[in-house]
Amino acid sequence: MQLKNTTTSYGAITKLLHWTVAILVIALLTVGFLMGDISDKTLKMQVYNLHKLLGLGILLLMLSRLIWRLINIQPGYAATIPSWEKRAARAVHDVLYLCLIVMPLSGWIMSTATAHAPHIGSWVLNAPGMVGNQLAGHYAANLHRALAWGIPAFVLLHIVAALKHHFLDKNNVLLRMLPWVKNR
Ligand code: HEM
Ligand code: HEM
Repeated sequence: MQLKNTTTSYGAITKLLHWTVAILVIALLTVGFLMGDISDKTLKMQVYNLHKLLGLGILLLMLSRLIWRLINIQPGYAATIPSWEKRAARAVHDVLYLCLIVMPLSGWIMSTATAHAPHIGSWVLNAPGMVGNQLAGHYAANLHRALAWGIPAFVLLHIVAALKHHFLDKNNVLLRMLPWVKNR
């Protein structure tokens, strides 16, 4: 199995990071919108904490992914794909990277500022310098709520584009990101 990307396809590490983050993001968006409605107080606290810890997991995965992307070659596109589409694809990918780093950071700052930082048992994971920082907490909360709508919009655009490449344009853009398709 090819671990690194090639000039024509994504390697196993990129694919693993892509699909792990994709599943986590969809799960956290769903849980994020539903968790406020949980009536049982103890369960609600546990779900919020799990949301926060998994969100921090996404932050770590995205930072690893960024490093992996920077030290790896990126597969090129077929000559048949118009240049505006290549530029649009790269722009949407960049926006997704940015959003998925800012989203967990904003959640972390907001919950640290309001003394509800994530914890593992008695180990409290405060965002550095943010304890009691009401102003940062306020802006971070607004950002978190705005991105809660912005991220699904960009993800939807991204999915529609991937499906268009596969079913309408019939090129290899989707296939080369699928885990069960071998690198060529
Ligand atoms: C990529 C990672 C994350 C995603 C996709 C995500 C998604 C969401 C969504 C969709 C909501 C509901 C927003 C709304 O009702 O308007 C939410 C709320 C919330 N998230 Fe996240 N979140 C992430 C990371 C985090 C992290 C790392 C923390 C804290 C360490 C966190 C803390 C919270 C809190 C406290 C709320 C409730 C806010 C409120 O009641 O207004 N989130 N999140
Ligand atoms: C929350 C969900 C998702 C996120 C955040 C996401 C994010 C990304 C990002 C940042 C890239 C750039 C390549 C990289 O650096 O890894 C990418 C590539 C790609 N994604 Fe997703 N993705 C998601 C879901 C999906 C889904 C559901 C599909 C399939 C329908 C898909 C298909 C692709 C394909 C085909 C590429 C390669 C595109 C190219 O080479 O231009 N993604 N994705």
